[in-house]
This record gives sequence, structure tokens and C-alpha cells, in this order.
Amino acid sequence: MSEYLQRAEKVLVRINELAAITEEQGCVTRTYGTPAFVEGRSLVKKWMEAAGLQTTIDTIGNVRGKLVCSTVNAKTFVIGSHIDTVVNAGKFDGPLGVIIGIDLLEQIIQTKTKLPFNIELIAFCDEEGVRFQTTFLGSKAVAGSFDKNILDKKDKNEITLREAIHTIGGDANNIKEDVIAADNWLGYFEIHIEQGPVLYKKNIPIALVTAIAGQCRAAVTFTGVAGHAGTVPMDMRQDALSCASEFVLATEAYALENKNNLVATVGKLDVVHAAGNVIAGKVVCSLDVRSADESILISSIQQTKKRCEEIGAKRNICVDWTVILQTKPVICNKELNALLTQSITEKNYELVSLVSGAGHDAVPISEVAPVSMLFVRCFEGISHNPLENAEIKDIAAAIEVSDHFLNKLILNNS
Ligand code: GLV
Ligand code: MN
Ligand code: MN
Repeated sequence: MSEYLQRAEKVLVRINELAAITEEQGCVTRTYGTPAFVEGRSLVKKWMEAAGLQTTIDTIGNVRGKLVCSTVNAKTFVIGSHIDTVVNAGKFDGPLGVIIGIDLLEQIIQTKTKLPFNIELIAFCDEEGVRFQTTFLGSKAVAGSFDKNILDKKDKNEITLREAIHTIGGDANNIKEDVIAADNWLGYFEIHIEQGPVLYKKNIPIALVTAIAGQCRAAVTFTGVAGHAGTVPMDMRQDALSCASEFVLATEAYALENKNNLVATVGKLDVVHAAGNVIAGKVVCSLDVRSADESILISSIQQTKKRCEEIGAKRNICVDWTVILQTKPVICNKELNALLTQSITEKNYELVSLVSGAGHDAVPISEVAPVSMLFVRCFEGISHNPLENAEIKDIAAAIEVSDHFLNKLILNNS
């Protein structure tokens, strides 16, 4: 077995070990701040320490492992990904980048490679935003863009984000201490499964990421009048669920008309006080719109909102539209990508360049540092699903190319 396959095998063992730590047996669910999250975080910290890194847990709850170089005032290159998951997730979305990161740094230590800059591996605590309907809590704290106004947001059990931070050992007043100052960054690198089908269809193990689509997420609340399902005539209802349903289909139709430039998803409907014999009085639904083209993203959101208001007005339903997240498309850094391109081709892999439709911690980090990403093929492109899978030989390819990339970066900065 080649050296890289052996290393990939160890990565896979760890992927499975981390996946076994879950809020609900029989599936992988590890959302921010839960006991499963804390247990998973401790395991990742233990692995970082075993590799030889100096570890800390920061205020928001990221695990950080440092390799400090001897040069005074040296900049820091960050390798990162996340260890939280969606509900009933796959094993690879997030953890793959962290666990390969541990392997890469262990290699640097074992080969006694002299570093001209510091390297920090960060296992971000919340990229998915499931628990508090936010995203990028961990990477925003490190990038310095964490918005303190969200600290009073509550999860479904009425626990605030501030309380959740406290429960896992942090202090919401100190989040600014997690920041890496903008002028200390050398760059950022994230390894992630593709979460789409291109590499699988092309039969290629890895890809260079050139850009990450911008996204807008909103919570749309439809408020009508709750009523008796048996007594209120059909034409006298203010049914919030029927209104939300029309909005869901109108959103899908709009995105289908613009399918080369845009995706739009309503993934969650919360029917408040739902019962089979009650006309829904209030429905909160999620909306997620993404495009790699900023002007298309902005105009799509405007159009979708307008359509939503028209549907509400027609049905006499009050509509509230609250934007939860808005990110611009991110262009990956030219110089880092040139190095990554060389690393891919020098290792004899075909070069495929992809735009990521998924969001990544690289997005908030791009506001303060040059970012780069490497994608790894996953089975049929399936993600956010227990069927998510990455093959050992593709993980080995990612390790081989990333090793080469880091060595080149070290050499170029020496
Ligand atoms: C993260 O998984 C996203 O929703 O893009
Ligand atoms: Mn995800
Ligand atoms: Mn992810």
C-alpha cells in the first residue's frame, strides 16, 4: 500500500470514529454546542495533540492546533474546516478537511520541515448553522466578523446562543479574542468533499475550486388566521400553510426558469401549532438562494421577495421577510490557486476547476485572507445525506496533492 493510501486509511478510521459521536444513535447529527459536539471536539483536540500541535479551544468553541515557527512576527497560514453537521448528515462534510489537516501537519512535524510561517489548523465549531439558524459562527469569530447582535438568538428549546457558548466553556463577551488580525494572515486552505456530481461523473478524484457561490438565506413568516378545519368555508380562510405552499412552488418555478445561474431551496417549513384539524395560522419557512453571479443573486432575491409579497397580498396573509445570511460570491486567490494547480498537475492528476455551490468557512475568511480550496470526489455527488461517501484512493490523492502544495508554499516563503 502506498504511503498516501496508508495515511488515507488512518483518516478514514478517524472519520468513522468521529461520526460515531452523535446526538441521535443511528445517524450522524452533531450540531453546535451539544454534548455530542463537545465530545467530538475533545476527540479532535486529542488527535491534534497526538500529532504534536499546541492546542486550544477558543471562546466560540473552535478547536485550534498550532505549529509555531521560530521567526518573530511570522504570519499564519490556516488550514480549516468544520466539525458540526446538519441533522442526519454524512460523515465527510466538514470532518474530512479537519482530519486530513491533522495528517498534513503531523507529516510536517515528522519530517522536521522548517517553517517560515506559523500554521494553524482550525476545526470550526459551526459552519452549518443548524441550531441557531445562523452560519459560520466559528469562522466569523476568527475572521473578526462575528455579529454580537445574534447572541440573544434562541434555539428550539429557548436556549440563547450566549447561554450555549457559556455551557461549552466560553464567554460571549470575549469572542473578539478569537480573532486572527487581518495583517497576520498568510492565507487559508480548506479541503472538502465536492458535494456535487461533477468529479464523480468525470471519474476524477480532486478539483481546484476557483470560486464559491454567494448566498442569501431568509426566514419568511406567513401570518394568517388559525381556524377550525371543519367550520370555516374555503373562500373565507386566511390559511398560512396554503400561502407558504404557493410561495414554495413559485420559488421553484423561478429558479427553474433561471437554472443556469441560480439555485433556490425552501428546505424547512415550521407550521406553528400544527394539527390536522386546524387551519394553519402561522408558518415560518426557510429560503436559500445561491448564485456565483452577484448581480443575478441580488435581482433574484428581489424578484422572489416581490413574488412572495404578491402571493401574501392575494391571500390576505401578512408576510415578514428576515434576511439571515447574505454572502457575496468569493473568488479564490490567484497565487494560491496557481500553486495548487501546479501541485495537482505535477502529481499527474487531471486539472478540473469548479465553482462551489455550497458555502464554506472559506467565505468569511476571504474577507481577511487569501483563500484556496481543494475538492474531493464524493459518491454520486451526494451530500447532507447519510449516503455521503469518499473513497480511500481519492482521500489519498487529496493528501498527496495537499502535501505537495504545503511544501511549495513553505519553499516559496523561505
Ligand atoms: C453548507 O453546507 C451549505 O449549506 O452550503
Ligand atoms: Mn454542509
Ligand atoms: Mn461543509
